[in-house]
Amino acid sequence: MPYLANPTRYDSMNYRRCGRSGLQLPAISVGLWQNFGEMDALGNCRNILRTAFDAGITHFDLANNYGPPAGAAEETFGRLYKDDFKAYRDELIISTKAGYGMWPGPYGDGGSRKYLVASLDQSLRRMGLDYVDIYYHHRPDPTTPIEESMAALDALVRQGKALYVGLSSYSPEETRRASAVLRELGTPCLIHQPKYSLLVRDIEDGLLDVLAEEGIGCIAFSALAQGVLTDKYLQGVPADSRAARRLGNGAIEESQLSPASLEKARQLNELAQSRGQSLAQMALAWVLRDPRMTSVIIGASKPQQVTDAVGSLANAQFSPDELARIDQMLA
Ligand SMILES: NC(=O)c1ccc[n+]([C@@H]2O[C@H](COP(=O)([O-])OP(=O)(O)OC[C@H]3O[C@@H](n4cnc5c(N)ncnc54)[C@H](OP(=O)(O)O)[C@@H]3O)[C@@H](O)[C@H]2O)c1
Repeated sequence: MPYLANPTRYDSMNYRRCGRSGLQLPAISVGLWQNFGEMDALGNCRNILRTAFDAGITHFDLANNYGPPAGAAEETFGRLYKDDFKAYRDELIISTKAGYGMWPGPYGDGGSRKYLVASLDQSLRRMGLDYVDIYYHHRPDPTTPIEESMAALDALVRQGKALYVGLSSYSPEETRRASAVLRELGTPCLIHQPKYSLLVRDIEDGLLDVLAEEGIGCIAFSALAQGVLTDKYLQGVPADSRAARRLGNGAIEESQLSPASLEKARQLNELAQSRGQSLAQMALAWVLRDPRMTSVIIGASKPQQVTDAVGSLANAQFSPDELARIDQMLA
């Protein structure tokens, strides 16, 4: 059966302006870092993306190295895009990134113009796209002048291969410098993608202020701490969970499920229940409580997790007392 998107998909999603740009992003976005590799069932991948788009999630986040193996998530996405989403291209914001090791030799990693240009060409081929909406430098490369990396991003926009550019995991100082170079070139930085969750809050100490000053949007990753900020690990480690699957490449492992973070999750779970939502929903709503946050990118191994995430928007307000209690639990 050809896919027909849900006609009511735009009725309930909340769209938030990305910094001082003209672009709006859905409050919840979906990322393909995990669960879209070669060993993942294509039917499940398809159902996750359809569930997302049907709920008004217009933004899918990729990178050259997502898989495993590296490149596989873009290939999976390309297949599903061709089957299901091609007719909806103008309703989608598709992002990809380069910055981690992709191919052997000195040009397959880092921040050189050579790498950033070649990598985007490869990503476009894997996804079967003419252009991406957002192209990110995935991490700072201190061995390449920031001017060179930013000039490469700007050139790709001018060539029509990307509409906007972004930065990921740049420090506040690096972000300020990169933003100044991009502005000078005429391609303002659209967005920054940092790690942010109830358990990892360092962007509150500077980066968010820089983004607000520079007019750059913010999209948080690993807001569920790869599943720790859900109720899934509170009674042990389910066999099909990310922590049990030994995926490598940065995926959480059982040994990283510390008693301290699980205890915090347990306390937070009680508060979430008193708010009438799941811990995952409260964790996402909490990230979105800051008006400087444009969107939060969730990972999902099942369509139901996307639906659960979207449900967080039904109760996104926190009283000062709830926020204070959360701070106490995390202290
Ligand atoms: N820029 C960067 O450097 C960077 C780095 C990492 C991620 N990202 C982006 O951010 C995206 C999300 O990252 P992430 O996967 O670490 O995010 P996350 O949202 O913190 O974790 C996602 C995982 O949590 C579990 N989960 C999600 N919803 C759940 C629910 N309702 N109940 C129980 N478990 C649930 C699932 O794991 P199970 O498999 O256990 O079900 C899911 O795969 C990535 O896909 C990528 O696009 C960017």
